[in-house]
Amino acid sequence: MFVPWVLATFVGIAAARSASSIDFTPVNEFTFQLLDNTYAFQENFGTKNIALSPLSVWSLFALLAEGSSGDTFSELVSALRLPTDLSKTQCLHSAATDVLKSQYQDIIVKGQSAMFTECSTKVHDEFCQSALRYETSIYSAETKNTTELAHDINVFICYATDGRILNAVKPQDLDNLRMVLIDALYFKANWTHPFDPTQTKVEAFYNSQGKTIGSVNMMYHKASHDVGDAGEISAQVLEMTYGKNEEFSMLIILPFDGVPVKTVLHNLATKSQNWMTDFKTEPRLPPFDTFIPRFRLSSRQDLIPPLMYSGITSIFDRTKANLPGIADNPLYVTSSIQNVEVEVNEEGTVAAAATVVGLEDRNLGMRFEANKEFIFLIKQRSCNVVLFAGVYGEPSVV
Ligand SMILES: *[C@@H]1O[C@H](CO)[C@@H](O)[C@H](O)[C@H]1NC(C)=O
Ligand SMILES: *[C@@H]1O[C@H](CO)[C@@H](O)[C@H](O)[C@H]1NC(C)=O
Repeated sequence: MFVPWVLATFVGIAAARSASSIDFTPVNEFTFQLLDNTYAFQENFGTKNIALSPLSVWSLFALLAEGSSGDTFSELVSALRLPTDLSKTQCLHSAATDVLKSQYQDIIVKGQSAMFTECSTKVHDEFCQSALRYETSIYSAETKNTTELAHDINVFICYATDGRILNAVKPQDLDNLRMVLIDALYFKANWTHPFDPTQTKVEAFYNSQGKTIGSVNMMYHKASHDVGDAGEISAQVLEMTYGKNEEFSMLIILPFDGVPVKTVLHNLATKSQNWMTDFKTEPRLPPFDTFIPRFRLSSRQDLIPPLMYSGITSIFDRTKANLPGIADNPLYVTSSIQNVEVEVNEEGTVAAAATVVGLEDRNLGMRFEANKEFIFLIKQRSCNVVLFAGVYGEPSVV
């Protein structure tokens, strides 16, 4: 049974030993902006469940920023909130990589990235060095054989996500690509305080007006968590930790009664992030009744529209993309797809994401796109006589 529900959830990357001194506020700002824009975009299509891995997107586009200049560079710096100084940006990027590469006692976190490039594309050494600095494996591929390329990419992603994401790309997604950047993220952890499956019961689920819109398998336990109101974002926040050392957590951000999730998303994108620590009460409350739905989300998201809402536009434009630092061929980004799977149950959480960014040659092949007013003629070819003529200037979907 399909159960519609709305809940803003994300896996919060709480702390990592080696990266704990770095301030990730700029990365989170990008995250909240992307989440808000993605929700707004999806809502137009009636989709209310979304799942994203903004860190993967941030990391891929931060790498592209190293090969960009002009407007393409300034848009990336501003939307990704990159420090203007390259060494600080590299520090932030490396710290994000470290969070995903560290070993944790009872939590699995794996971040893997790769770059597949067409053999004849002369990728600049500096760009390869940048990619290697973020532990991106580089593969040379015959990109014209999209069947083989899709297979190689899917094997990479399947392995990197422990089999959670199987067919991330199809051969037809890869037509004309010169370069493909991939970022895969896998997270698996048990709750610090697991739920007892025998206590899980079917319960109603409501919209922001308090109307029943479906049911869920509601899990229950009595446990001690950080919880509290975050007035600035109009929501109540619960933090449930993973593992013995509580190094990762899930924050559940539940809008105040009558407040739509959209308002809270907008608050997250525009207000300061102080709520992330301010909602906690000191000391932590004694154990209390906690109800969380068991859920599974699976999403495939085209990231270009929400990234464009976030202000990144020229990199997707064949005539304006400015990526001289990547390769001799002038490239631009033509696809940016993210697959995400999230499963939350009594034991814990498994979440996997695969982001695939494809770049085409701006000069590759001739292109004709009748996307503005045009004139048409129908003629007999051997004597060259026009039988019909017209103008098409008012579009309609027929
Ligand atoms: C998570 O919990 C399950 C069930 O209790 C257990 O089998 C598994 O070993 C646990 N995993 C870790 C990493 O502790
Ligand atoms: C593409 O690669 C597949 C798998 O390696 C191979 O079987 C096929 O013949 C190749 N196609 C072309 C056109 O080279």
